[in-house]
Amino acid sequence: EVLESRDLQSVVKYIKSGKCKRIFVMLGAGVSTTAGIPDFRSPETGLYANLARLDLPYPEAVFEINFFRSNPVPFYALARELLPGHFRPTPTHSFVRLLADHGVLGICFTQNIDTLERLAGVPPNRIVEAHGSFATQHCIECGASYDNEKLRQHIKAGTVAYCERCHGLVKPDIVFFGEAMPMAFHRSIPLLQTADLLLVMGTSLTVHPFASLASMVPDRCPRVLMNLDAVGDFGCRSDDVICLGKTDDIVRDLCKELGWEEELNIAWKK
Ligand code: OAD
Repeated sequence: EVLESRDLQSVVKYIKSGKCKRIFVMLGAGVSTTAGIPDFRSPETGLYANLARLDLPYPEAVFEINFFRSNPVPFYALARELLPGHFRPTPTHSFVRLLADHGVLGICFTQNIDTLERLAGVPPNRIVEAHGSFATQHCIECGASYDNEKLRQHIKAGTVAYCERCHGLVKPDIVFFGEAMPMAFHRSIPLLQTADLLLVMGTSLTVHPFASLASMVPDRCPRVLMNLDAVGDFGCRSDDVICLGKTDDIVRDLCKELGWEEELNIAWKK
């Protein structure tokens, strides 16, 4: 085993030893809830528990490509609330940035479309937005791109945008259920073989293929779960560490032990 015991202190010791050179990160909606963005599956506050008004056959339908084709209105109604712009990064996002500042960040794989990793200053070439983002949009029929400002106006007005070339539906390039993952996701998977540590934060690990990244790091690579509840197969490897709680609290503890407390405060307040 790489860790002395399955706790945060041992993880800190490992990071300080200098043997832990490449840290990979997997993020989910739970790292942005303290920024004011709801996650998907938390029982009362999650997005899926609050979609009754959209009159969907089941909550996930709002992000399904086939459902969108038949009825784009619910997604457009929701998109208004999902649009990035009103939120600021959390200490957890700033912690990922500190990993990059210290030269130990491998790749930060995120399922989130809120772009808070970028806003926190994580270098763009270290971020894989596995479920895409609102940065660009295309016609789902002919593939033509569509103007960003025009789409924002549609979303704000609650009206559906149609392609100016073929009148097909326009959809932001966030990955829907039933769509392929971005090339950058597939290209980055082999890099997991080089991981010395994996941090999994704020995700229910229920959506594949993203969730399966957690089992792609080598056996010798310790894995740390930071989440409100136990998820995935964490605990089945001898170097798995499970930290239950809010990621911001756990990250603050971790930074204190690492001697990065002040840096975290500065990075977060910027
Ligand atoms: P989920 O809503 O499924 O899971 C969020 C997890 O974070 C849950 O286990 C929560 O308990 C936990 N959590 C919430 N707040 C937390 C906090 N402050 N600290 C620690 N843990 C916290 O969100 P994801 O796993 O990101 O995809 O969902 C995956 C995908 O499902 C999303 O990318 C989205 C969705 O459908 C698409 O739309 C394609």
